[in-house]
Amino acid sequence: MRAYITRGETEMEKIVVGVDGSESAQQALEWAAAEAKLRGADLLVVHTWQQPAAVLMSPYAPVLADTAALEEAAWRTLTDSVAAANVTEIVGQVQQVVVQGSAAPALIEAAQESSLLVVGSRGRGGFAGLLLGSVSQQIAHEATVPIVIIPPVARATDGNRSQAEG
Ligand SMILES: Nc1ncnc2c1ncn2[C@@H]1O[C@H](COP(=O)(O)OP(=O)(O)OP(=O)(O)O)[C@@H](O)[C@H]1O
Ligand SMILES: [Mg+2]
Repeated sequence: MRAYITRGETEMEKIVVGVDGSESAQQALEWAAAEAKLRGADLLVVHTWQQPAAVLMSPYAPVLADTAALEEAAWRTLTDSVAAANVTEIVGQVQQVVVQGSAAPALIEAAQESSLLVVGSRGRGGFAGLLLGSVSQQIAHEATVPIVIIPPVARATDGNRSQAEG
């Protein structure tokens, strides 16, 4: 593992964060941005997408799979997430990348030369009550760099009292 990118004489550290458009991922992005600012590190924001399973299994797959539209939607998710987060004070570069593929392996791969991989505990998936989604769980098991999993944080404005107040 090489944890630092060498840029001229300077060793630039890189932090990687995965976003999927969820509130949880947004909190992960904001945490990662604050950490990048503290460390003077670059920040790489990654969003992955793949064809819905129903499309892949359909005999009409070549017709149904509008790859360009899916990729465009993926870019929109990514750029909207970054625009909504406070990344302006980061000293290093903020890079964004869209990857087609399964989220956890793609994030682990993207983070290979970074010093930290950050994700939210949950994402856009629907099962209520889970502490970790399948992506954050797989990352916890398989990541090859240090990881941070951001738990839900109650926000004063969203009326969600359950996390902070029990
Ligand atoms: N497509 C993705 N691209 C980049 N990061 C992702 C993606 N999906 C999830 N993540 C990251 O993983 C975190 C946890 O999401 P995860 O998908 O594990 O939870 P979930 O959606 O609630 O559960 P599941 O997908 O298993 O139904 C997110 O907050 C985000 O940081
Ligand atoms: Mg998910």
